[in-house]
Amino acid sequence: MCGIVGYIGHRDAYPIIIKGLQRLEYRGYDSAGVALFDGSDINLVKTKGKVEDLNNKAKTISQKGSVGIGHTRWATHGVPNDVNSHPHYSNSGDLVIIHNGIIENYESIKKELIKRGYSFISDTDTEVLVNLIEEVKKTEEVKLGQAVQIALNQVVGAYAIAVFDRKKPDEIVVAKLGSPLAIGVGEDEFFIASDASPFIEFTNNAVYLEDEEMAIIRLGKEIKLRKIKNDAVAYPRILELQMNLEEIEKGGYDHFMLKEIYEQPRAIKDTYRGRLLADQGIIRMAGIDQNLEKFMNANRIIIVACGTSWHAGLVAEYIFEDLARIPVEVEYASEFRYRNPVITEKDVLIAISQSGETADTLAAIKLAKEKGAFVFGVCNVVGSSIARESDAGAYTHAGPEIGVASTKAFTTQITVLTLLALKLAKEKGTFSQTKFHEFLTELETIPDKVEKALESNPLIEIISNVYKDSTNCLYLGRGYNFPVALEGALKLKEISYIHAEGYPAAEMKHGPIALIDDQMPVFVIATKKGHYEKVVSNIQEIKSRKGKIIAIVTEGDEQVKELADHVIEVPETLESLTPLLTTIPLQLLSYHIAVMRGCNVDQPRNLAKSVTVE
Ligand code: F6R
Repeated sequence: MCGIVGYIGHRDAYPIIIKGLQRLEYRGYDSAGVALFDGSDINLVKTKGKVEDLNNKAKTISQKGSVGIGHTRWATHGVPNDVNSHPHYSNSGDLVIIHNGIIENYESIKKELIKRGYSFISDTDTEVLVNLIEEVKKTEEVKLGQAVQIALNQVVGAYAIAVFDRKKPDEIVVAKLGSPLAIGVGEDEFFIASDASPFIEFTNNAVYLEDEEMAIIRLGKEIKLRKIKNDAVAYPRILELQMNLEEIEKGGYDHFMLKEIYEQPRAIKDTYRGRLLADQGIIRMAGIDQNLEKFMNANRIIIVACGTSWHAGLVAEYIFEDLARIPVEVEYASEFRYRNPVITEKDVLIAISQSGETADTLAAIKLAKEKGAFVFGVCNVVGSSIARESDAGAYTHAGPEIGVASTKAFTTQITVLTLLALKLAKEKGTFSQTKFHEFLTELETIPDKVEKALESNPLIEIISNVYKDSTNCLYLGRGYNFPVALEGALKLKEISYIHAEGYPAAEMKHGPIALIDDQMPVFVIATKKGHYEKVVSNIQEIKSRKGKIIAIVTEGDEQVKELADHVIEVPETLESLTPLLTTIPLQLLSYHIAVMRGCNVDQPRNLAKSVTVE
């Protein structure tokens, strides 16, 4: 899981690469490097640390040249240090490579290369790959493109690579299997990147490589695309991108995470825009309309996802079963793929993924497809691997999510899944037309209600200050808000490094209640609809053990206010739509606590935005 950038054209490559790497830092940020061809030789600099550290170190080299490649790393093989950082040279110093992914059989290839006289200075699989390419190029007497192709047929694993030759610097060869790779196509210039953000200000035209494809990008020529396995020629599919630069910059907020929290009213609206036609009583979603039979005849729906997307899947389980009466199972993709699950052709698998690149989710899809299930993808990143691998799907339209902690992706995933459940409920007749209409109308009020929930931000900041030094926190919710409790706990632990656990409120008495004392903050979701009275009893149990209670309540609630140390209000809505509102204060709480603790909110330690390794 790393970010790669490359440039070949008529501009200075260095500023494009550095800025591009900064935009890709969400993919990994433990080390970074760049290699530039200055007209006669390669200048390479790399360092442990962030892209900013690289930028400082790069002052020591010539930044000249209009051909170059750069990398921001999230270590897989070898600790993060200067030597293991990319780019990597081949032994002759002619070839230089950047790589995102893992070469699984690198040990055996390395042994073979050592026998042939190669030596290695890093612990990486990437240095093995570049030397394998060099060996093939030398022994087979082929050009770089062909050498890359032959070498890749010998490796097992995942990769997005870019490689060039000091002796022939008018071309960069790229290839992809399992890790994303986009080529920006400009006027006599090409950009290479893990996603389009590094080149969006230069061109809207992009070619996304498919798995097992490679491209030879030569200055002044068209891109040559070919299959890695069988040599078949593929034609570049140039897409016109809709993204704009403003969308991927902070827009005046201190952090991407805060910007993305505040974008939710807009993001939710964008997600249902054109799909939800409340006045006509219709939900229109091409991916479902064209495959309605699959859903109508499904024995069950299996939802696979990881992390926050898995929590969205849990919310969806409640909605699908409650509204559409379809049995649902929600699985961690990483467990599902390895546990020999029973899957039939009558199952529909819904894969949820913000990035669309999560390796475990992708593998779960492949497994389900092999067994004949119909796969529906819910992704945010257009053209991502999961979106392409699915039989059909629906995008969430949240816009780029840069902060590593997922926020607007979660609420827009719930929005898409709600639309899907409602549509199926209507088709199945489990919902009356009046109820359906009422639901659609209420869904249209959600963006304004999220806006209202965001108004509690100043109060949330004050509450955050009280609990910022806590070492443990509990999050409780019931029904639709149980997954929100899990999500609240995940958000807090991942960005503030405070230990937090989410539980169904009623489970407390089966163990976690032992943890409660006057040092334990307990965040309880206690909205009016659902199991309100039962949650109130749970709050009483916490209070009698002196736990600190921070409750998320429905506007105007008086009963919980009497019991809780703090209450944060959200507007009233239908029970099944409450997660879209109750999530908001929990996101803001985590955000403020993390900022107050001096944590790097957008790039929490040890994490990366898109987890392309298992
Ligand atoms: C948490 C978070 C992660 C992701 C998980 C799945 O804030 O962002 O838990 O939700 O890594 O990622 P996607 O949705 O890209 O498959």
